[in-house]
Amino acid sequence: MDQSDKDWWRHGIFYQVYPRSFQDTDGDGVGDIRGIIERLPYLKSLGIDAVWLSPIFPSPMADFGYDISDYTGIDPLFGTMDDFDALVSAAHESGLKIILDLVPNHTSDQHPWFIESRGSRDGPKRDWYIWRDGKSEGEPPNNWLSEFGGSAWAYDDATGQYYYHAFLAQQPDLNWRNPAVREVIYEVMRFWLRRGVDGFRVDVIWHLIKDVEFRDNPANPHYLEGRPPNEKILTQYSTDQPEVHEVIAEMRRVIDEFDDRVLIGEIYLPLHRLVVYYGNDLAGAQMPFNFALLSTLWSARSIEKIIADYESALPAGAWPNWVLGNHDRPRVASRVGMEQARVAAMLLLTLRGTPTLYYGDEIGMHQVAIAPDQVRDPFEKNVPGIGVGRDGCRTPMQWNATANAGFSTTRPWLPLADDYTHENVVNLDADAGSVLSLYKALIALRKKWPQLVTGAYQPVAAQGDILLYRREGQDSVIVVALNLGPEPASIASDSIGFGRQILLSTFLDRQGEEIHGALDLRGNEGVILGGPAQAG
Ligand code: GLC
Repeated sequence: MDQSDKDWWRHGIFYQVYPRSFQDTDGDGVGDIRGIIERLPYLKSLGIDAVWLSPIFPSPMADFGYDISDYTGIDPLFGTMDDFDALVSAAHESGLKIILDLVPNHTSDQHPWFIESRGSRDGPKRDWYIWRDGKSEGEPPNNWLSEFGGSAWAYDDATGQYYYHAFLAQQPDLNWRNPAVREVIYEVMRFWLRRGVDGFRVDVIWHLIKDVEFRDNPANPHYLEGRPPNEKILTQYSTDQPEVHEVIAEMRRVIDEFDDRVLIGEIYLPLHRLVVYYGNDLAGAQMPFNFALLSTLWSARSIEKIIADYESALPAGAWPNWVLGNHDRPRVASRVGMEQARVAAMLLLTLRGTPTLYYGDEIGMHQVAIAPDQVRDPFEKNVPGIGVGRDGCRTPMQWNATANAGFSTTRPWLPLADDYTHENVVNLDADAGSVLSLYKALIALRKKWPQLVTGAYQPVAAQGDILLYRREGQDSVIVVALNLGPEPASIASDSIGFGRQILLSTFLDRQGEEIHGALDLRGNEGVILGGPAQAG
């Protein structure tokens, strides 16, 4: 990527590293910063442009780093500040951007701010967190539920009040209505921006502001038995409050004090609510993460509808983005099956908008079954047995066929997938037909054909399992035809246009094939076609 490109975050491809599971260099079974440095050549070879790191800050690890006890340090488990600086320079030297995870909604209960806050009712930091009296003896202030099970209020004996925690009791929420809290976190942002980081992915940004009156949340009339218990009530008053946009605009101003940085927001909301996070005059998050593909029914018509809804909901000038996997959701290969995971990769890398890849998806890593005694995720521990566990998508990267998959010299913190001896980077790289080769080819194609990045998205009506669209450039057009089903299908030539050539098939075997009449697709096949613009 051109380093002077101010729009790098629009033009580039993002890749999420879950540092605990990427590469261990000090033999403790947990990945570290040195490991990420070692693997930069791999990331470079993939062709990605920006690396987002899940949290690496000092933490008691109750939620594996999403419970921070010092915002401006590095947890010794991951290395030192020198290691971090070395990572930023090495990444920048190889043309890669570094994005950090900012977790401003809550701290660890071990953070000195919280220790001070819980110390007395009238201390200066009391109001940095959310303290309320119970409704009555033994009854929390309202009915809000923790995302990880149970009430979102924890009673603190010392001062006889409850504090609010949207996640674990070890993750007390900061009070974002307090200007001192805002300032201190904005300083944290500046600290890292000065060190050269290229932006932040802001954890649960839609949670930051809560209802000023802490009204009870309404019951969820559509709750489905077997779903996590927190879904029994809606989050009407506990998330997505209008005043959150003020905060995000302030964060964006901090970002804009520096050149060419990016603010990404983690937001699980329906598309019409999500797009509000671009902010008035686009002065909010540049990329409110679009997670629609994580939960959609995997069918041509539902995906077509998501794209259409998203494209039409985007405010003028807002830049879209797409995500296929992350450290909180089941692996795409397990959600849609390995055959469709290839089609999903082609979809992600040919849609209009910045794609974010999740480490290991490029080698087809699947959800690993975790035995009960190996569970690490606090969500699974609190709400066992209904499949909410996130360990299965956080297992060690499979680098090669040696013991511990080249991830570590010792037993990793989470089990390895049992197929790692063949499903690994070295093996798949040597196989011209592998999913890894497909990812590389897709990324290379996205770089070669600018209309895949900046061209308009034009849906083409299709039937059955076929998803069809065009990406239009100045004098050429790309047509993407995806078969979301297992049966062969044929697409009439008038829907794809004439003079087309296959640039890439998900099976990596039809490159250069000229299409004269109808386009025949095998089951689970996707193809990208190139040809002159007028021909369509
Ligand atoms: C975000 C993170 C998730 C974490 C939660 C609480 O959703 O992605 O891993 O558990 O926030 O911080």
